[in-house]
Amino acid sequence: MSDVQLREWQDDDLPAIGRLHALSRHHAYADLVDPVALARVSPASQEAVWRSRWTDLRERAGQGRPYVALVAEVDGGPVGFAVAFALDRPDGGSGVELNALHVLPSHHGTGVAQALMDAVVAALRTWDVPTAHLLVLEGNARAEAFYRRTGWVLRGPAGTHDVGGAPVPVLRYELRLR
Ligand SMILES: CC(C)(COP(=O)(O)OP(=O)(O)OC[C@H]1O[C@@H](n2cnc3c(N)ncnc32)[C@H](O)[C@@H]1OP(=O)(O)O)[C@@H](O)C(=O)NCCC(=O)NCCS
Repeated sequence: MSDVQLREWQDDDLPAIGRLHALSRHHAYADLVDPVALARVSPASQEAVWRSRWTDLRERAGQGRPYVALVAEVDGGPVGFAVAFALDRPDGGSGVELNALHVLPSHHGTGVAQALMDAVVAALRTWDVPTAHLLVLEGNARAEAFYRRTGWVLRGPAGTHDVGGAPVPVLRYELRLR
């Protein structure tokens, strides 16, 4: 188990999060996403994505929709991150999405991902919602094994997710929070 420290995001984390997200996607999605589309995923593109989402998350928090955004550090450097937030459902109810969980390949299997998941789920359990969901690319076997081990249950196909401009099939998993 790595000696991992978790903390909340700060504005100046965004470049590192962009780098980490791009590297993680290239490693995990090499066999799942068209190479031309995957080549569009870069540290700069992912920093821009997260800069925009980070602004949205804080604006929505001001309207009462909570989020949790954590960075995991080992030896003072970022090695993973996780983001979950409350969202509005089309039926007028509310839901919670674990939107991203990425750990550097060098730190897979070290307990960093488990520490992030434990902290995110602990936060979600304080939000008074019955379930959380996530979407995972079909064929991302390592992530699916990790989610199953941490209590998430497969609900089935859930359309597609855009990666570098390519639609990629995704699966929906859910976790009971109470
Ligand atoms: C998903 C992720 C956060 C999990 O963290 P991790 O440190 O790799 O997870 P762990 O090592 O604790 O668990 C991985 C599980 O997959 C299993 N596994 C490893 N390689 C596998 C493979 N090729 N196929 C199937 N299962 C595999 C491991 O045995 C382990 O299961 P077990 O604990 O029941 O034995 C991490 O792999 C990651 O960041 N991946 C890239 C980004 C990603 O896909 N994120 C999810 C987006 S939805």
